[in-house]
Amino acid sequence: MRRDATPRRYLMCPPVHFEVTYSINPWMDPTKPVDLPLALTQWEDLRDRYRSLGHTVEILEPRPDLPDMVYAANGATVVDGRVLGARFAFPERAAEAEAHLDWFRAHGYAEADVHEPSHINEGEGDFAVTESWLLAGRGFRSSPLSHDEAQEFFGRPVIGLDLVDPRYYHLDTALSVLDGDEVMYYPEAFSPGSRAVLRRLFPDALIVNQQDAAVLGLNAVSDGRHVMLPQAATGLFEPLRARGFEPIGLDLGELLKGGGSVKCCTLELRE
Ligand code: ARG
Repeated sequence: MRRDATPRRYLMCPPVHFEVTYSINPWMDPTKPVDLPLALTQWEDLRDRYRSLGHTVEILEPRPDLPDMVYAANGATVVDGRVLGARFAFPERAAEAEAHLDWFRAHGYAEADVHEPSHINEGEGDFAVTESWLLAGRGFRSSPLSHDEAQEFFGRPVIGLDLVDPRYYHLDTALSVLDGDEVMYYPEAFSPGSRAVLRRLFPDALIVNQQDAAVLGLNAVSDGRHVMLPQAATGLFEPLRARGFEPIGLDLGELLKGGGSVKCCTLELRE
């Protein structure tokens, strides 16, 4: 099958102030040192990779008091040029939501197209956009109430999915949209009922095993042809190629110490 890439626009925030000083997910160990220059180089490799593939990367100004701001995917959800802001579950990250909203307001998004949410949602950490649906994770971060709010705002059917394993605390650590209504996911991260929903909606999904999920292999970004993913997810390369995708492995090892990888660092701005 021939796969075509479509040009994308991403928002990213350099890990200039990245550090692990608190722990809000099982990946974060404040006693483990972070190599900041290396984190920056790894992040720049990802940014440059997007640009070399013809994608646009916008930059969000990092703030010294917000070490997790590098995970830009959590700051909003943007579909059809409309922005659903975030509301974070933990106070450590709360101020990131406003920083994102300010960016959108300063970059030509009309007030009517920017919604400040009433309920907790961590942006694309828990919302995944497919052609037909908005998949919405819950269980650790985003409130189930945010699902109705997103459905009302975007006018897209929202499919709620229950996450059950704390290592896969955001939907984007357990499921990734490859193209259209094609996804890959790690079933064990979901409740039995949600697994059944996923099987029903995506009977042809690429099923990911524990080894590849455990290196955050699902924290991937696809442009319809190229799939940028953690290079340690070695078991995913062949199955992706067999489907006509071009996997591109990246090392974001320093950012894994905060519990994120490729997708977490990338917020897609969908027009
Ligand atoms: N330390 C951050 C947190 O726990 C990591 C966020 C990762 N981002 C993501 N989209 N999964 O909130």
